[in-house]
Amino acid sequence: MSVLTQQATDAFRALTGNDPEGIWAAPGRINLIGEHTDYNDGFVLPFALPQAAYVAAAPRTDGRWRFRSVDLDETVELGPDDLVPGSPGWQSYLAGVVWALQQAGHTVAGADVVLTSDVPLGAGLSSSAAIECAALAAFADLNGLDIEPLERAKLARTAENAYVGAPTGLLDQAASTLCIEDHALFLDCRDFASRQVPLAVTGAGLEILVVDTRTRHSHVDGEYAARRASCEEASRILGVPALRDVTDLDAALARLPELIGRRVRHIVTENARVLEAVAALDAGDYPRLGELMTASHASMRDDYEITETSVDLAVVTACAAGALGARMTGGGFGGCVLALVRAEQVEQVAAAVTAAFAEASLGQPVTFLGRPSAGARRLH
Ligand code: GLA
Repeated sequence: MSVLTQQATDAFRALTGNDPEGIWAAPGRINLIGEHTDYNDGFVLPFALPQAAYVAAAPRTDGRWRFRSVDLDETVELGPDDLVPGSPGWQSYLAGVVWALQQAGHTVAGADVVLTSDVPLGAGLSSSAAIECAALAAFADLNGLDIEPLERAKLARTAENAYVGAPTGLLDQAASTLCIEDHALFLDCRDFASRQVPLAVTGAGLEILVVDTRTRHSHVDGEYAARRASCEEASRILGVPALRDVTDLDAALARLPELIGRRVRHIVTENARVLEAVAALDAGDYPRLGELMTASHASMRDDYEITETSVDLAVVTACAAGALGARMTGGGFGGCVLALVRAEQVEQVAAAVTAAFAEASLGQPVTFLGRPSAGARRLH
């Protein structure tokens, strides 16, 4: 039993005096490439991290939900009338899943639920989707609900969009639910067709080095919503259902104001980079994948304007120290950078980034290896 499984089990026993009926886990994710494309009906290519949210749960007979966060040392109890979209707090990621299931017509019995997670918070690694997807798996099993994986991801996203109130796409919840070990998930966010693309980097003598810059910006939510609004405005001006449908970039740019034009250029070129990245992976062409990653970062920095000093420094430094390519991952404005690095150069690249951060008085980044791992699952 892993440390977190044990921790969740112990906490459940302490809370209820009984064993949980089951333990479920769902991972955080890294998006290899394809940023902010999901809400433009575009393409994404995430993989699941080893770090995950763990849920220990058992049903209750009184129709109430008791949620305990081991990490925050807090317990809350909610009744049916307390499931109100927009309610604040960590518990909304769990309550939102109950609510989303109910909205879809499912009956969800009360439950005791204990949560713990080792997905870094606010690092752009989808700690919230991990909670939602683990909770979805738990509630589905506890209530005997037969829900397909893609539908689970969509319900978890409903919790995030309509209950928590963050206007995200499906990237995070799809990754946390659908990913499998040693693969990236190529997902078309229009028809949700997907393919598991082998990403056995270690077999190619490579590693994906993750640098958590530990920069967390408070204005992320507003900036995210603003980018999304720009894309919707551009679609309206261009008369297309979504930016996915822009086929002639130059013609589109001629019809758009300068700033919105740059936002559109990021989305259109990023979609093309995802398709190229999939082809590069299929061909085992990792140097090309690295180039695409670095180009994606430049596009996020110059056109979409969602990077900031620390992630830019991490990318430049990693590439100068030998990485095949590097880019920020996730919603933006800080968080994590991933670098594609030859296995024998991992230490040297990590040390170079740490030294550059010290030099720039940016504090100490945390580095770890991003090994493509399994999606949501029942552990016991
Ligand atoms: C956040 C959102 C995702 C996606 C990314 C950017 O992680 O939750 O839906 O838009 O940002 O690619």
